[in-house]
Amino acid sequence: MPTSSDRAHPPVVPGPYRLWHGGDYNPEQWLHRPEILAEDMRLMPLAGINQASIGIFAWAALEPAPGDYRFDWLDATFDRLHAAGVGVLLATPTAARPRWLAEAHPEVMCTRRNGQRDANGGGRHNFCWSSPVFRERSAALIERMAERYAGHPALLGWHLSNEYCGSEDASRCYCAGCVAGFRAWLKQRYHDDLDALNRAWWTGFWSHSYQSWDQIRPDDHVIDGVMLNWHRWCSELVVDFARHEIAAIRRHSVKPVTTNWHGEIDGHDHGALARDLDVVSYDSYPDIDGSAGDRDSLAAHAFIVDAVRAHHRGRPWLLMESCPGQPQYKRVPRIKRPSVHRALSLAMVGHGADAICYFQWRAGRGGMEKMHGAVVMQDAPHDTHIFRQVAALGRDLTALSTVAGSAIPAEVAVVWDVESQWSRGWNSGLNHLPNPWALAKAAHRPLLETGIGVDVVDATAALDGYRVIIVAGVFLLRPGFAERLVAAAEAGAIVLIDALSAWVDEDVGCIAGGRPGPVLRPALGLRCEELDQLREDERIAVTAVDGWLPAGAQVVGHLDVVHADDCTVLARASGDFHDGRPLLTRRAHGRGALLYLAARLDGDGLGHLLRKLCAGAGVAPCLPAVPRGVFARERRQPERRFLFLVNPGDGVIEIPLDGKDWKDALSGASAGASVSLGGWDARVLVAPV
Ligand code: GLA
Ligand code: ZN
Repeated sequence: MPTSSDRAHPPVVPGPYRLWHGGDYNPEQWLHRPEILAEDMRLMPLAGINQASIGIFAWAALEPAPGDYRFDWLDATFDRLHAAGVGVLLATPTAARPRWLAEAHPEVMCTRRNGQRDANGGGRHNFCWSSPVFRERSAALIERMAERYAGHPALLGWHLSNEYCGSEDASRCYCAGCVAGFRAWLKQRYHDDLDALNRAWWTGFWSHSYQSWDQIRPDDHVIDGVMLNWHRWCSELVVDFARHEIAAIRRHSVKPVTTNWHGEIDGHDHGALARDLDVVSYDSYPDIDGSAGDRDSLAAHAFIVDAVRAHHRGRPWLLMESCPGQPQYKRVPRIKRPSVHRALSLAMVGHGADAICYFQWRAGRGGMEKMHGAVVMQDAPHDTHIFRQVAALGRDLTALSTVAGSAIPAEVAVVWDVESQWSRGWNSGLNHLPNPWALAKAAHRPLLETGIGVDVVDATAALDGYRVIIVAGVFLLRPGFAERLVAAAEAGAIVLIDALSAWVDEDVGCIAGGRPGPVLRPALGLRCEELDQLREDERIAVTAVDGWLPAGAQVVGHLDVVHADDCTVLARASGDFHDGRPLLTRRAHGRGALLYLAARLDGDGLGHLLRKLCAGAGVAPCLPAVPRGVFARERRQPERRFLFLVNPGDGVIEIPLDGKDWKDALSGASAGASVSLGGWDARVLVAPV
């Protein structure tokens, strides 16, 4: 029996280590069909389900009229799940409200940018983040739930709401209360000094200067300072709302709290929210079904989940929702081909997921998501392709329980920051160039394909412990970030900064004294003059020393005109107007160095450079030679290493191992010198450290 010292991280919830296999469960929609509820309890163990998220969207069932709390069905659900060996994540039902609440208090609904308030009954995820009555009614219900279920043996922890900012545009409410809060927050942020705000936001532009705080409106798209600060404030409101929910829980329960993130994690500042959560979760819906192009989708998805995990200091996370079939809203909802679900799920465990869960356990017979692939479809027989795939995965996850709590080694950080993402969106000058998300993803992919572990961190993350730090598209410099990059280099890190980073300060004003700003200018030993944006068909030849860039590398997209005052030039443009311009520079710093990449490179140019930087910094891939097309990721316990190998495509790929004593973690058979992986096959190997 493993003890906790065998593990790198404590279990996500106190209790035995295991990988969760579960899903959203909505028994409140089936109360009129007791035979179905009974069947759920028979089928969950057959499918290897050990967790259920309940209560999501159940406010109307829990409180059909003000103060009329109905817990009988939830009591029975808890008891039934417990008897079936299924643990409960209890959700606060705030993602949708009962009709009576919006009837009595229309202001609980989100007000959109055009000033129009959402109608009662419309949609979900669309409440006002600052409405006092919404907060009061939520807390009253949550507190009662916490009091009632805190001591229930089935309770694993808490699931806050559902996908905060989950409906487009409703992450920011434009009602009078939210806007008044914004003004008060600005007053504090600018120390009651309106002139300071006017200067910071450059409001003299087009006569936009403010003479009173009340004139500030959040929808003034001419002034980026107002836009960014509005996003900041709304993000703080989301975090504050989460704290409000957590406080109600904490009055009675100490169990861990999570909430399910989704999409490109840019609706609010997830790094900030993560600080209030015990574990982070992600809803995973990549466009993958076993088609050509799935490799690209898996790479893109790996980028997101490397960000999800890194936003919570690299700890294991919960894959809270996925679709064992196909989500109904995909352009072409094809059936997932055999073994795709298993391969995809194991790939996610390789990236640190300690849970694979579904939306949802049983699909409802009505409502707009009735066609969404679930483990069990409505009241149809369960003898299906999906159910068999899920049950088989359940067996694998049980057999892999020693993986739970293992570390996800990453010695490379790619920085992607939500404030850069937001502020680049309004910058007309760079609009046709790749945005921060695309730039960071482009840096992540070659490392992923080489088998190098990467954390996708935000600009507030601690940087110690990373040997290589890649700053690609970090357009806005948060206060202190440049200083922390220089300190990381002093301490031994290799830091690469690209030409679309370090453009603006925290109020989206052009960086003082010209790019890349007062700290990075001397640290890099260069200054930037002007960015040339190239036509799509334009290419510029490159000459590099010491193999820093591959032979035949070319510049595409953009090139920064740089003066290399006090740094070594490792590559230059060749020919035409840009002949001889520095493209790649390096300046040593303490035990590390800062490099500047002044252009975007075509083909594998960036991959080549990043692999060379990693090799120089002593960052090794998890296998010496990961064949093209294979995704390889490592997890580690103090005494053993796990290798997750996935072939997301057709054809057999032979993967040479490294001579270590690898065994198949499921069969226990020795892996030998190499592993042969068929299309959509996935293998987990284990070896002593
Ligand atoms: C999201 C939501 C779920 C459900 C699924 C459908 O992730 O959290 O409630 O709508 O999408 O894919
Ligand atoms: Zn509001």
